[in-house]
Amino acid sequence: MTTPQHKIGSGFGATSTAAEVLHGIDLTGKLALVTGGYSGLGLETTHALTRAGAHVIVPARRRATAEAALDGIADVEIDELDLGDLGSVRAFADRFLATGRRLDIVITSAGIMAAPETRVGHGWEAQFATNHLGHFALVNHLWPAIADGARVVSVSSRGHHFSPIRWADPHFETGYDKWLAYGQAKTANVLFAVHLDRLGRDRGVRAFALHPGSILTNLARHIPHEERLAQGWIDENGTPSGYFKTPEAGAATQVWAATSPQLDGMGGVYLEDCDIAEPAPDGDGVTDVGLRVGVRDYAIDPEQAARLWTLSAELTGVDATSRRSRPPRSPGSPCCRRTTPRCASAPCTAPAAPAPPHRTSRTTSPP
Ligand SMILES: NC(=O)c1ccc[n+]([C@@H]2O[C@H](COP(=O)([O-])OP(=O)(O)OC[C@H]3O[C@@H](n4cnc5c(N)ncnc54)[C@H](OP(=O)(O)O)[C@@H]3O)[C@@H](O)[C@H]2O)c1
Repeated sequence: MTTPQHKIGSGFGATSTAAEVLHGIDLTGKLALVTGGYSGLGLETTHALTRAGAHVIVPARRRATAEAALDGIADVEIDELDLGDLGSVRAFADRFLATGRRLDIVITSAGIMAAPETRVGHGWEAQFATNHLGHFALVNHLWPAIADGARVVSVSSRGHHFSPIRWADPHFETGYDKWLAYGQAKTANVLFAVHLDRLGRDRGVRAFALHPGSILTNLARHIPHEERLAQGWIDENGTPSGYFKTPEAGAATQVWAATSPQLDGMGGVYLEDCDIAEPAPDGDGVTDVGLRVGVRDYAIDPEQAARLWTLSAELTGVDATSRRSRPPRSPGSPCCRRTTPRCASAPCTAPAAPAPPHRTSRTTSPP
């Protein structure tokens, strides 16, 4: 049954910490995978899950950095993974599958935000490719090793308010905007959870997406000082706005999504502040203090979720649920970036439609 996109009154909130949501939960014997589990929210998540008894696998783009960050934490193993490189994703998944183990929890926390225009792999826009396509390929490759009853947690953002999927131009061939690109990627993270939940429900595999809150981490590495000031994230002295959550509170919603019995039998919904989020008020979610709250309708639309799944399978060449695997689309392939309805099954000869107009109004709070 579809889970309603409405609060359940979890009793937790914006300041709850990962340790608090795990109180009384024993994860002994559970195996978790946390992408980005060596920085920011992912690192806090790794700490919290291991303290509750789980064994955590942290696949890292920078192995030495991960080893330093995770030094001293018991029950962690580090492997290598670059989400922007499908070969690396495949190789990591193959290594894991060869161990014969089953995953009880998958948390896709790795991500980049508002990066300068970058192309990876097959000429894809890097935020869409890293934040969404890499995780899509990873979960699909790992699908046979995801245990019945497991949870998959897709870390999205309130940044999803910035943009729906740009069906006519997902790779920004008609002009790049770093915030629209982040917004599209974070919308993709929500739609991924919506469709994955639909596909996994019969096996008890449930998927959730979430906004963790705003937390100052390395995620902001691409945001210049002047822009942080202009957005009100910091003052002239560099002091962060009181608006930010601590990393311990920032990790709480994804840990709650992965473990809470309060969510048993539910899935396919977007969470914030350790509860199911409400739909964005008046359809756009901007409050009178300029914050964006709730989830936009385009991010939880089942038809767009299915369409994105088809596009992602076509682009990455992997779709565990169809039991077919194709080579990923190459840059010269006529429909590798266009997304007319025909693209999923046949070479696309249609001209690219114009991109939707850029949105300019954004929250003054960090996404
Ligand atoms: N912090 C916030 O305020 C906030 C708000 C909303 C949503 N989020 C979401 O929360 C998630 C975690 O963010 P964070 O704040 O924890 O950021 P972070 O501290 O920068 O951590 C991101 C992690 O992702 C990894 N990563 C980046 N590109 C990768 C790639 N190509 N392959 C493998 N790993 C890669 C990074 O590895 P390297 O260090 O090696 O690059 C790092 O470990 C992101 O998905 C973000 O969109 C955060």
